[in-house]
Amino acid sequence: MSMITSTLKAGEVARVSGPARIEVIDGRILLVGSVYGRGSSLVIHELRSYSLKALTETKLGIFLGSGGSFDVVDSSTEVIDDWLRVAEAVNEDFTTSKKLKIVVVGPPESGKTTLTAFIANYLRDRGINCCIVEGDVGQEDLAMPATVALAVVDKPFIWQRELSFSEFRFVGCISPRNCSTRIIASLVDLINRALFRGCDAVVVNTDGWVSGRDGISYKLELLRWIKPTHLIVLDDGLSDLMYSVFHDMLKIIKAKPPTQPRIRSREERQRLRTEAYKKYFMNSSVRTLQASKVGLVGVLPLNCVEVSVSKLVEMFPELYSIMPHVVRACKDEKELTLLVKSPLHVGLLDALRNEMYLKYSTKLFIFNVGDLVRCLVGVVGEGMSEVAVGIIEDVRFEENDTLIKLRTPYEGLIKGLISSNIKLDEEYREVRRGE
Ligand SMILES: Nc1ncnc2c1ncn2[C@@H]1O[C@H](COP(=O)(O)OP(=O)(O)O)[C@@H](O)[C@H]1O
Ligand SMILES: [Mg+2]
Repeated sequence: MSMITSTLKAGEVARVSGPARIEVIDGRILLVGSVYGRGSSLVIHELRSYSLKALTETKLGIFLGSGGSFDVVDSSTEVIDDWLRVAEAVNEDFTTSKKLKIVVVGPPESGKTTLTAFIANYLRDRGINCCIVEGDVGQEDLAMPATVALAVVDKPFIWQRELSFSEFRFVGCISPRNCSTRIIASLVDLINRALFRGCDAVVVNTDGWVSGRDGISYKLELLRWIKPTHLIVLDDGLSDLMYSVFHDMLKIIKAKPPTQPRIRSREERQRLRTEAYKKYFMNSSVRTLQASKVGLVGVLPLNCVEVSVSKLVEMFPELYSIMPHVVRACKDEKELTLLVKSPLHVGLLDALRNEMYLKYSTKLFIFNVGDLVRCLVGVVGEGMSEVAVGIIEDVRFEENDTLIKLRTPYEGLIKGLISSNIKLDEEYREVRRGE
């Protein structure tokens, strides 16, 4: 990588796209709400782009990797001044007696993550104790995907991945569609934790599901429970809608989305998630847990109402042929759930399902032990709080107990596990996304 230099006049704006490193040789720039002076060195990830503004005449040293770019642009085509206006409007409302809860909403790639960082940096620069709650479970940049996390903003940063999270809640989904209740509960819980920890301003990032009736209803519900002081909206139509709903209840500020964002493909988003999982599990090891000693929240069919295999054949002679494969059976009034050692013939299962339903009005569900392996789970410690994330590596049925091998970086006491439908391969790629 060779260095090029560029000198910007005061007020000039440049757009930089990663992979790149920028060194401030002389002068001062504003980047994502923070001011960087002489000697600062800033790294831009290959999947990110940003605009920066020279605050005085500034000389920059620029190192570009393959695909990276640096261009001085017409400042009227850039959003930096608009975002400064937004951050200033929020800052003006701060008083020591009034805590700020700022929620950023908008469609995918509208700049939510960057504007969240911009506002947080701007407020921190002005001496406000600021926290971030990252609520986009698919592109969660503080802890890892499938969680909602809280970080105290204790230094200037460009991308949330540079901060360390202080706590998180395990949601177990990477799309909000089937998880909206868990996301809302996690957000409210962590915002309260942030206020309890002494944060004077909490900036909350959200996912980009804002279209269709379901998406809109979910966002309105989320806001109803968070009760923000400020709502920042990165879309004209959406801001009109929010205004019509909340105009007398909270301050709504419209912000401009970046004109030339670095759009990420589905594969690139997946790669970012894999990077995050890998980083989290880098220093993990495998622990063996006894299922009888840990609470299993939703880890079906390990935590259901069990019936003995012999009783099962008495009740349902039709199941006789598959009994040697069954390691566990659970039954309630309407459903029968079987855990089998290895996958069974699909045609046979369909026939059994039909027969069970027609004869007994009982729905038959069959899981393989292999379905549980490499699933992501939340790890619960004392006080019912999530302390870590784990991956189930193996489940073994011994005579007296079921043994769960769990990969996790956590070394403390484990009281429970929370299930998810997300399954990762050995390279931490999602082989099942749990939607
Ligand atoms: N001012 C800007 N100019 C160009 N690209 C930007 C700017 N601000 C953000 N981006 C890039 O646009 C993309 C989308 O921004 P992001 O904040 O991740 O949006 P969202 O969180 O809404 O998906 C990212 O690659 C980001 O680096
Ligand atoms: Mg985002």
